[in-house]
Amino acid sequence: MNATDLFPKSLFAGKTVFVTGGGSGINLGIAKNFAALGAKLGICGRSQERLDGAAVELRALGATVFTASLDVRDYPALEAALSRCKAELGTLDVLVCGAAGNFPAAAEKMSANAFKAVVDIDLLGSYNASRAAFPHLREQGGCIIFISAGQAFTPYANQAHVGAAKAGIDMLMKDLAVEWGKHGIRCNSIVPGPIENTEGFRRLGRGALGDKLTETIPLRRFGNVDDIGGCAVFLASPLASYVTGTVLVADGGQNLLGSGVWASIAAQTT
Ligand code: COA
Ligand code: NAP
Repeated sequence: MNATDLFPKSLFAGKTVFVTGGGSGINLGIAKNFAALGAKLGICGRSQERLDGAAVELRALGATVFTASLDVRDYPALEAALSRCKAELGTLDVLVCGAAGNFPAAAEKMSANAFKAVVDIDLLGSYNASRAAFPHLREQGGCIIFISAGQAFTPYANQAHVGAAKAGIDMLMKDLAVEWGKHGIRCNSIVPGPIENTEGFRRLGRGALGDKLTETIPLRRFGNVDDIGGCAVFLASPLASYVTGTVLVADGGQNLLGSGVWASIAAQTT
C-alpha cells in the first residue's frame, strides 16, 4: 500500500513538480509518486540518457515531462531550466532538491576538492535550485522538499563531507522556511534511511551485508523508494498545509541507535 493507492489520482492535477537529480533512485521514485497522482514533472541531472529513461517511466504514468541536462552547481543553467519548465508546463508548485553525490572517504585522505565537490552538489546545488525556483513558487505559493540524510545529525566515519553538506541543507531549509513563509512557500526536509536498490545504498557498501544490517534498524527492514515518495506526497499535499521547517525522518528508527552499531557491522566487510 503506498500513496498512489491512498490518495485521489487527481491530487496534483494541474501542478508541476520539479525534481533535481530526478533521473534515478529515490528522486525518480518521488517523481513517480507525484506522476501517479496527476502532477506534471520537471527533472534535471547531468546525464541526458538517464533523464530520457526516467521520462519514459513518468510518461507511462500519464505525466507531461520536461527534462534538462545540467549540473546543479551551475546557477545560470538551473535558472534557465526552471524558467523553461514553467513556460512549457504552465506552473511551478513543488521543488524537490534531491541531486547529491556520495562516496566513503576518510577525512584525512580525501582531497580538499573531494570535500568541496560533495558540498557544492548537495548544499550549493540545493540553494541554487531554491533560489532559481523562488520567483515561480511565490506566484501562487508552493513548497520545497530537501532530501537530507541521517549524516546531517548523526556522525558517521568516512562521511564528513556528506555530514557537513546535509547538515547545511537542513539549516538552509529552516532559514528559507522563516524567510519565505510570508510568500506561502513551505520548506521541509526528508531524511531517508537506507533505501534498497539505490546508488547511495550501493556506494556505502550496504547491499552485501544483507540481513545483518537490518538488525541496526528498529523496524527490521531497509526502506524502499515509495517509503520516501509517500513522505514527499504528504509534505506537498494539503494535509501538510501548516507544516514548514520540519525534518521528517523516514529511516525505520535507525537514527535512534546512533551510528556505532551500523559501523561495527559495516566494518566486518572492509
Ligand atoms: N574517494 C575519494 N575521493 C573521491 C572519490 C572517492 N571515491 N570519488 C571522487 N573523489 C574526488 C576526486 O578525486 C576529485 O578530487 P581531486 O580533484 O582532488 O582528485 C573530487 O572528488 C571531484 O571528483 P570528480 O570526479 O571531478 O567530481 P564530479 O563532480 O565529476 O562527481 C562525485 C561528483 C565525485 C560525487 C561522483 O561520485 C558523482 O557524480 N556522484 C553522483 C552519484 C552519487 O554519488 N549517488 C549517491 C547519492 S547519495
Ligand atoms: P542517485 O540515484 O545517484 O541519485 C542522485 C541523482 O543526482 C542522480 O540522478 C544524479 O544524476 C544526480 N546528480 C548528481 N550530481 C549532480 C549534479 N552535480 N548536478 C545535477 N544532478 C546531479 O542516488 P540515491 O541513492 O537515489 O540518492 C538520492 C538522494 O537521496 C540523495 O540526495 C541522497 O543523498 C539521498 N539519500 C539516499 C539514501 C540511500 O539510502 N540511497 C539515504 C539517505 C539519503 P547524474 O549523475 O546524471 O547527474
